[in-house]
Amino acid sequence: MFDRIKEDIAGVFERDPAARTRFEVLTTYPGIHAVLAHRATHWLWVRNLKWPARVLSNVARLFTGIEIHPGAVIGRRVFIDHGMGVVIGETAVIGDDCTLYHGVTLGGTSWQKGRRHPTLGRDVVVGAGAKVLGPIPIGDGARIGSNAVVVKAVPPGATVVGIPGRVIECEQDADRRRRADTAARIGFDAYGATRDAPDPVANAINRLLDHIHHMDSRLEAMSQALERRGIMQHFDHDADLDAGVIDSPSAADGLDPGAPDAPDRGATPPA
Ligand SMILES: CC(C)(COP(=O)(O)OP(=O)(O)OC[C@H]1O[C@@H](n2cnc3c(N)ncnc32)[C@H](O)[C@@H]1OP(=O)(O)O)[C@@H](O)C(=O)NCCC(=O)NCCS
Repeated sequence: MFDRIKEDIAGVFERDPAARTRFEVLTTYPGIHAVLAHRATHWLWVRNLKWPARVLSNVARLFTGIEIHPGAVIGRRVFIDHGMGVVIGETAVIGDDCTLYHGVTLGGTSWQKGRRHPTLGRDVVVGAGAKVLGPIPIGDGARIGSNAVVVKAVPPGATVVGIPGRVIECEQDADRRRRADTAARIGFDAYGATRDAPDPVANAINRLLDHIHHMDSRLEAMSQALERRGIMQHFDHDADLDAGVIDSPSAADGLDPGAPDAPDRGATPPA
C-alpha cells in the first residue's frame, strides 16, 4: 500500500511543476485523496459491500469534489490534477499513468445496465472540462484537449479536440513531439495541449482562402492580358482583401501554414 502511495506522489512530481514537498502533496492534493479513497471503496465494492462503498465514495466526493464510482477500475499512478468536478462512471476503466484535469467526465450515454463508460489505455491525458462519453476505447498515449466532447473511439497516440472530438494529430506526430522537448524527459505534455496542434476549423478556412487567392491571381493575369490586347481595361486588385488569415494556436510560432508569413496566402498576386 505504501509503495502505491509513494508512486502516486512521485507521479505528481513528474506532472505538476507546482508540487513542492511530499508532505504537501499528500496533505493538499484532492486528486491524491480521491484516488486513495477509491482504492478503499473499490475494495469494498468487489467484496459486495456496495452500500458502504457508495457511502464512503460520497464522503470522498464531499471533501475532494471528485466523484469516482466505486465500481470504476483505476490503474497505477493515475493523477487527477485540481480535481473539482471530475465524474468517473461505474464501468469506466483508466489505465496506468493517465492524467485527468478538473471538470473531466468519463460518462455514459445510455441508461442500459452493463458496459456504458469509456476505457482509457495507458498514459492518456484528458484536458480540463473534456467529456468522454460512452463505452469507447481511448488508445494508449492519446491526448484529449480541454473541453472536447469525445463520443467515438480514439486511436493510440492521437490528439483529439473539439465538439464532437476530432483527431488532429496522429501517432507519428505525437512520437516526434515526444522526442522533441521536455516531454522526452518525462513523457508527458501538461494539459494535453501541444504548441503545434493547429485548429482544424481555422485550417479548413485557410485552405479555402488559399484557393480563393489562387483563383484571384489567375483572374488578375487574365485581366491584364485582356488589357494588353485592348479588349478591356484592367481593374486593379483590391489589396485590402488579401489580409484575411484565421489564426490557429500555433500561427504565432510560424508553425502553421496559415501564419501570415506563409509563402502563398495573403501575398499580392503576381502581375
Ligand atoms: C447528444 C447525445 C444525447 C446524442 O446521443 P445519440 O442520439 O445516441 O447520438 P449518436 O451517438 O448516435 O451520435 C449522433 C451524432 O452526434 C454526434 N454527437 C453525439 N453526442 C454528441 C455531443 N455530446 N456533442 C457533439 N456531438 C455529439 C456524434 O458524433 C454523431 O455524429 P455523426 O453522425 O457525424 O457521426 C449523447 O451523445 C450525449 O451527449 N448524451 C449526454 C451524456 C452525458 O452527459 N453523460 C454524462 C454521464 S455522467
